[in-house]
Amino acid sequence: MRGRLDETLEHLLTKRLRFYEDLGIKLFYRHRAAAPRLENPTFLEPSAASSKVDASSSKPTPASSSWKPLATAAKPAPKWEPLPVAQGPTLFEAAERVEGDTLEKIRADMGDCMRCRLSKCRNTIVFGDGSPRAELVFVGEGPGADEDAQGLPFVGRAGKLLTQMIEAMGLARKDVYICNVVKCRPPENRTPERDEIATCSPFLFRQLDAIHPKVIVCLGSVAAQTLLHTNRGISHFRGEWLEYRGARLLATYHPAYLLRNPNAKGDVWKDLQKVMTVLGLTAKKGKLA
Ligand code: URA
Repeated sequence: MRGRLDETLEHLLTKRLRFYEDLGIKLFYRHRAAAPRLENPTFLEPSAASSKVDASSSKPTPASSSWKPLATAAKPAPKWEPLPVAQGPTLFEAAERVEGDTLEKIRADMGDCMRCRLSKCRNTIVFGDGSPRAELVFVGEGPGADEDAQGLPFVGRAGKLLTQMIEAMGLARKDVYICNVVKCRPPENRTPERDEIATCSPFLFRQLDAIHPKVIVCLGSVAAQTLLHTNRGISHFRGEWLEYRGARLLATYHPAYLLRNPNAKGDVWKDLQKVMTVLGLTAKKGKLA
C-alpha cells in the first residue's frame, strides 16, 4: 500500500497540525525547489549558529530541512541592516499574512489556553490592550502580578512609566496597542523560557499581522530577540531602525529596567523621539520625567 503512515507518526502529525490550525495556520510551506532566490536571505537563512540553536526542534527550519518559507520570498530587501539570526522563522512567520484576521479571532483561537506550563499558575490571560488600528505597537515581555490580576498589560509600576512615555510622545494609551510576548505571568516574574516563548509567540505574530502597525517598539531584549530571531543583547541594536514583516522596528530598554536605572531614561527618550519623527508626532514634554 502506498503512502500509509505509521500510526504513531500519523497521530503525532495530526496533533501537530491541529495545534497549528488552532493558531490559524492552514497552509504554510512549499518545497524549496519551487521557491525563488531570496533578496534578503538573512531573515530566512539562519547563520551557522542558528542550526545549532534549533537542533532539538521538531519543526523544520530553513537550515535543517528542504522547506522554504512562502510569503517572505517576494518581499523587497529592507532598508535597515538585518541582525545576525539565531533561529530561523517559525512556520507561522513563514506563512502568508492571513487576510481578514482580527484580534477577536486571535483571542478566540487562544481560548482558555493550556498550551504551556505558564497556564498552571496564571490568574488571567493578558492578551493585549489598545487600538486595533494603532500605528504604534509596544511589545513587552510578559505580564507581572498587577497585569495577571487585572488582565491588562503594563498596569503596574513599569506600566505607569510606559504610560508616561506614551503621553510624553503626545499620545494616549488608547491610541497605541500594547501587548507581550507571553500572555501569562511567569512565576516569580522570571524570564519566560524558550519553549514558552515558542508556544505563545505565534499569537503575538498574528496580533502584529492583524494590526499591521507602522512602528513596533520592543521593550527589552525578550521582545526584541523574539521578533528579530537573534540572541544578541539589546545593547547591540538599541535605538536602531530594524525591520519586522514590513513594519519599522526599534528596540529600547524595558520600563522596569528604567525603574532600576533612571539614568537610561535619556537614551529611551532619544529612541522615542525617533519614533515620533517617523509618526509625525510632537512631544508634550521635553523629556521623560
Ligand atoms: N512587564 C512586561 O513586560 N509586560 C507587562 O505587561 C508588565 C510588565
